[in-house]
Amino acid sequence: MRTGREQFGGRGAAILAMAGSAIGLGNIWRFPYMVGQTGGAAFIVIYLVSCLLLSMPIFLAEAIIGHRTHASTFGAMEKLAPGTKWKWLGLLTVLSPLVILSYYSVVGGWSIGYLWQSVTVGFHNGEIGTVSSAYGKFIASPWRPLLCHTLFLGACAGIVSAGVKSGIERFNKITMPLLFLLIVLIMTYSISLPGSRAGVDYLVKPDFSKITPSAVAAAMGQSFFSLSLGVGTILTYASYIKKQENILVTGMGTIGFDLLFAMIAGFAIMPAVFAAGIEPGAGPGLIFETLPYIFAKMGAGVPVISAIVAVLFFLTIVFAAVTSAISMYEVGVAYLVEQRGLSRRRATLLVFAGTWTLGALCSLSFGPLSEVKLFGLTIFSFCDMLTSNFLMTFGGLLFVLFVGWKMDKAAVRDEFTHGGTARFNCAVFDAFWFLLRYVAPVAIVIIFITNFVG
Ligand code: TRP
Repeated sequence: MRTGREQFGGRGAAILAMAGSAIGLGNIWRFPYMVGQTGGAAFIVIYLVSCLLLSMPIFLAEAIIGHRTHASTFGAMEKLAPGTKWKWLGLLTVLSPLVILSYYSVVGGWSIGYLWQSVTVGFHNGEIGTVSSAYGKFIASPWRPLLCHTLFLGACAGIVSAGVKSGIERFNKITMPLLFLLIVLIMTYSISLPGSRAGVDYLVKPDFSKITPSAVAAAMGQSFFSLSLGVGTILTYASYIKKQENILVTGMGTIGFDLLFAMIAGFAIMPAVFAAGIEPGAGPGLIFETLPYIFAKMGAGVPVISAIVAVLFFLTIVFAAVTSAISMYEVGVAYLVEQRGLSRRRATLLVFAGTWTLGALCSLSFGPLSEVKLFGLTIFSFCDMLTSNFLMTFGGLLFVLFVGWKMDKAAVRDEFTHGGTARFNCAVFDAFWFLLRYVAPVAIVIIFITNFVG
């Protein structure tokens, strides 16, 4: 191991950083929408169960590899299984977060664009059609989204190049509490709107008839996505956690925060959507179509408050996106620094150059490059589909197989029980071991097939 490798200050810092990675667009839009469409409270129950039985073991598998080796993805595989084909898993999980980062930065850029608009001119055009076409025009116009993508990625580069402790840790320590404060404020506003009751019902009324096998697969997929699993980010962050820290506690803390944020976001978004009398839809694009319309409509009542809420809302999205993006960025930087001997500054620049270029292509695929198709998809959709449907699940599967079937069981037990000091009996470890070896791989294959068919 290289001497002087950076570490997070303590347990709180590690949990905040991991929660920063996990909490993102997945919590703010995807979760509330899925809850509503897939059975309300009944979906939440399935979601909780899949967090515990599926995502928790995968999360811990990644965290155990990182914490055990104190190395980033590629180096960790070289340490635990030297000279084997597992190094390809190390390499795959360097590349997939960088592909995600490229198109994530485009969406992050849009949120900067909307933040700018909410600060400067606001959203006055009240009709849904006008708001929608403004969104369509914005993403298709080549220059503004490119500039926003550059700003977003540049901000991430600045944070990552400052280092694990003074960059990533410090940024998360400031923004994560702020993020919770902001979303609670928005929730309070949202619930106070006349007509918001239907939105609350939408989230809490269980409808067991909607619980189909595909809803269960969707819940598993969402918990997987929301915890940023399968691409080595959790592994890399865990490699910065001090040896004496308890990895199980860190994992539980992260999952708890991610869940809490998703729930609050649900109550922040859906009541407003219903109060405005619109049908809840799907996809990250709708944040930029539906919500500005809501802000415009609410503005008819008390314009100042709705303008402030709009600013707070887009600020929340920008922060949530940056804290996730820097975790992907760090995977590439850690590889270049630890395996290729680059300085952190150079590594940051190199990752910037690569992801900026791919991101620019993704951004232009909404405008001038919209005719360029890969397997019938635009460049942006292709990168999204490739990573969300295949690389993440594939990486997750290989991680659980590695820890469950290849890694030394004594080492896994040692990590799980915190060197044998944890105060629970061995049945807990045995349950984890069973979930890891049998349940998680089968569940991931189910998600994989569902993605493939869907
Ligand atoms: N978890 C993030 C969210 O909820 C999205 C995400 C998926 C992610 N995979 C990732 C973030 C990998 C960082 C790294 O929006």
